[in-house]
Amino acid sequence: MLPDLFADDHRDVQLGPGAAILGGFALDVADALIAHVRHMSALAPFRHMETRSGKHLSVAMFNCGSLGWVSDRSGYRYDAIDPETNRPWPALPPLFLDLAGRAAEALGFNGFVPDACLVNRYVPGSKLSLHQDMDERDHSAPIVSVSLGLPATFLWGGRQRSDRPARHRVVHGDVVVWGGPSRMTFHGVGELKAGDHPATGEARYNLTFRKAR
Ligand code: SIN
Ligand code: FE2
Repeated sequence: MLPDLFADDHRDVQLGPGAAILGGFALDVADALIAHVRHMSALAPFRHMETRSGKHLSVAMFNCGSLGWVSDRSGYRYDAIDPETNRPWPALPPLFLDLAGRAAEALGFNGFVPDACLVNRYVPGSKLSLHQDMDERDHSAPIVSVSLGLPATFLWGGRQRSDRPARHRVVHGDVVVWGGPSRMTFHGVGELKAGDHPATGEARYNLTFRKAR
């Protein structure tokens, strides 16, 4: 049989010590994850957060969990209250917790219980510049990042912002985990290309699980 050139090619890729792309790790629960995202975004709407300099991020975001990552003119922080609704963020669905725990464990990070999940929505043209996840108190816990919908280019840099990043394709159902010696690696997402995905339409969702406290 001829290979299907358009089928997603799920491979595991080692990124560094304590860091890997787990190809297709979330594929079997992807539809359920997306249903949760849609439901929760009715309670905590996607919004383009403002940065300290007054620009708006091209990626739209909301959070679930007891803490949520927030950016505004005063900088970045974790907050238990959604500043848009003045209500707590939606709770982390058990399915999310279970997936994040299993993905972390696959890299040897046992007992990972995130208290924050940032939900990102990219549309064509959205991107996320190189950054470190450093607003969390506990850097011994890894980051678990789930890709849903349109494919993207995950930028995997080094310890310095100036380190030239490697470019890795991440597709629907892939999970990236980074912790231990790789926890503070600069990473980002290249400009999303136009497309139409059966599960998400013209968008990519990303779930980023963290232990903030
Ligand atoms: C992030 O770094 O917060 C998101 C990464 C991604 O969208 O894959
Ligand atoms: Fe990040």
